[in-house]
This record gives sequence, C-alpha cells and structure tokens, in this order.
Amino acid sequence: MTQVYVEDLARHEGEEVLIQGWLYNKRSSGKVRFVLVRDGTGIVQGVVTPDADPQTFELAEHLPQESSLRVWGVVRADPRAPGGYEILVRRIEPVHIPKEPFPIGLKEHGVGFLMDHRHLWIRMRKQVPILRIRDAVFWAIRAFFKERGFVATEAPIIVGTAVEGTTTLFPLDYFGEPAYLSQSGQLYLEATCMALGRVYWIGPCFRAEKSKTRRHLTEFWMAEAEAAFLDHEGNLKLQEDLVRYIVEYVVSERRRELLELERDPEILLREVREPFARITYREAIEIIRSHGVDIAYGDDFGAPAEDALSAHFGRPVFVERYPKEVKPFYMKRDPQDPSVVLNADLIAPEGYGEIIGGSQRVDTEEELLAQLREAGLPLEPYRWYIDLRKWGSVPHSGFGLGVERTVAWITGVNHIRETIPFPRMLDRLYP
Ligand code: 4AD
Ligand code: MG
Repeated sequence: MTQVYVEDLARHEGEEVLIQGWLYNKRSSGKVRFVLVRDGTGIVQGVVTPDADPQTFELAEHLPQESSLRVWGVVRADPRAPGGYEILVRRIEPVHIPKEPFPIGLKEHGVGFLMDHRHLWIRMRKQVPILRIRDAVFWAIRAFFKERGFVATEAPIIVGTAVEGTTTLFPLDYFGEPAYLSQSGQLYLEATCMALGRVYWIGPCFRAEKSKTRRHLTEFWMAEAEAAFLDHEGNLKLQEDLVRYIVEYVVSERRRELLELERDPEILLREVREPFARITYREAIEIIRSHGVDIAYGDDFGAPAEDALSAHFGRPVFVERYPKEVKPFYMKRDPQDPSVVLNADLIAPEGYGEIIGGSQRVDTEEELLAQLREAGLPLEPYRWYIDLRKWGSVPHSGFGLGVERTVAWITGVNHIRETIPFPRMLDRLYP
C-alpha cells in the first residue's frame, strides 16, 4: 500500500492509499461519520460509512482531537471537499489516543492562552499554512541568490561588537570577556564578500528591543546579502528583484496556503508588478506630514510614519538618503551631500513596515575611523573591520531583509508572532 501525503492526493484518484496523521476534527451526519485528518501537508476529509470495518466505524465516533492515526481508504474526487478530494475510509488504526482533551479547541481562544500553548497551537488550521509559506520564503531567497551566483556563507552568532547601535545588545559572558548575540551578520559578510565576491546568508539576529509592537521580535531571521563592486543603485535593483522573486515564488508554490489564509495572491502580485516607488528621506517627511503624522526632519520613522507611506504608495517604497545622524556608522555618505548616507529602507505595502534595511558601505579607512569616532565607538574591537579598508578596499553594498516581516506581509497576518514557530519577544520566553 502506498503511503501518500494529503497534498499529493490528486495524483492517486481511485487508488487505495494510506494517510498517516492526526485527527483534526470529526462530525456525524445520519449514518455517516466524517473525520478530518491533517498530516502537515494539508487536511483531508475521510468519510466513514457502516461499510467500513465495525471497529473503524466505532473509532470515527469516539477518537479525540489530535489522536494520531493511520487511515486506509480510496481517494475520490469531490468538488465540495476542501482540496477537491476525500477518502472513502476502509480502516483506521490509532497510533496514540490522548487521555486528556487537547487544550486548543476549535473555538476562539485568547492570545495569551494560545501563546502559552504555542507548541500545540502550531498544529492548527491557520498556523500550518503560515509556516509552510515561511518555508517557501526561505527557499525563494536561496533560489534567487543561487541563480544570481551569490555564495552562501555564515557569520558568527557570538560576537564582540555592535552593528546596529549599542542599545539593543544582548550581553553574554564569554569566559570572562564581554560578548553579545549578533544583531546582524553584516560586518562579517563584508569580510567574506572581499573573499568570495558576492555572498548571502539567512541567519538568526538578536535585538534586545524594549518595544512591544506587532513588528518586533527579540530573535528573528534576516536574509543578508553583500557584494563587492556593487553601488547604491545596484543595491536597490538587487533588493527589488529579490522581493519580487519571493512574492512570485510563494504565489506559485504556496497558492493553496495563501487561499487558506484568505490572502488574495492577485493583490500580492499586483503590489510587486510595477517598479517599486523610490523617494528620498526628505520627500518622505513631506508625504508623512501630509497624512497628518507629526514628524520632524531627523526623526526615525515610527509605525504611524511607515503606515502613512504604505498607504500613500500602495506598493513597496524605497526611502533613501537618510540624515547620517539616524543611521549606523558603517554607511557611506553621499558625495553630493555628506549630510545624508547612501542607504535605503524598503517599506512594505499594507502597513507591514520596514522589511529591508541596506546601504553602500564606507570604503576608506579614513572615513571609517572618523565615523566610528563620531558614533562614540571604541576602535579596538573593530580592528579587523578596519583592516578590510587597508587591503584592496572596493565600493561595496548590501542589505538585510527581515524574514518574519516579509512573511507577515505575504500571509497577511496582523502580528509578527505568528510568522515564526517559537517567537521571542519582550514578555515571551515560554515555550
Ligand atoms: O534595518 P536593520 O536593522 O539592518 C541591519 O541590521 C543591517 N545590518 C542589515 C544589512 O545591511 N546587512 O534590519 C534589517 C531588517 C529590517 O528592515 C527588518 O525587516 C528586520 O531586519 N528587523 C526586525 N524584524 C523583526 N524584529 C526586529 N526586532 C527587527 N529588527 C530588524
Ligand atoms: Mg532598519
């Protein structure tokens, strides 16, 4: 007997198959019993009639939610069934029958309760497609960079230096020396890109964010790219191509999951079809003000500011050339106007906030030393990073895309906590 996965049922119409999974729900209607079985790839309805063996008919009535089981039956097309196919069940064999009721019923629960049961919540109808889309986003990123000839690399997680400012560092005692959890692999990618030309990685990043918002995690995943001989213009082009690629890949590979989440794939495709909008920080301030948000030149953007831009453009928008004071030490100043840097943040549509931060990097030793000093940072821990400007320094650029924010936008979920299996937030370390 072939074991098949729910997502492949269409290829087995009329065959007797074995499905292995968990009981999601059940109901009875007259003499017929229905079991909803999930297996990670999807949910299928099993129809149990009195023609099934008597024990199976009995089980279909009494098995509790989240019993694990093996189901044998014949695949048949049914336009009314979710997914278009159902199983005419011959036999059910329980693998494990829970003794206690599953804590998460099919009714509504409060967020606190669900978060305390995240290890079980991830089995539920809405969470599975989100995590499957997350998987596709990772694959899309890898496929994109592989097609472009970028080399996958890694950066350390335990580091001795700050990348994105000193206020969000998670300190660590490294055998008596101060160390931190990495905020971004960027500085190390700048080194590997001088060895390998064009590099990327998808790695965990840590920020001791005191902000309790629907966009912030303290541990999240960033896809970072860095390329030698890439300038600011090329950097924006690369980011735009990547974001469009991710959306098109997910729509093609995970259309069913998007529909399960009631996310219209056509809206996503429309958002990335046209060239992304592009404005300077200065222009952004005007637009944000015109939407009634109080903001001064030199302020960083909060959620209301990002949402105003998002609403204004209705598609991704690059905001470039920020005042140097709001951005980190490693960004290259604009030679035309040294009060701003050659950077851009990409703001997602529909109020999902900033999904990419990137820039061209400082490439001379003199400028770097000056900018480190201006930022009030000690030179000693950055000695290796300064070295990169001593031998064969070249113009280079890169960026980091926040995976969870991207998944939030694509899936249309309201809060970032549902886009990662086990979110870490200000008030959340369990489970
Ligand atoms: O803008 P950020 O801080 O940029 C950097 O860390 C650069 N060193 C990246 C680079 O150039 N290689 O972070 C990049 C992206 C943000 O745009 C956002 O999408 C995401 O990472 N991000 C977060 N996502 C969830 N929770 C947080 N606390 C985040 N902080 C940043
Ligand atoms: Mg940023």
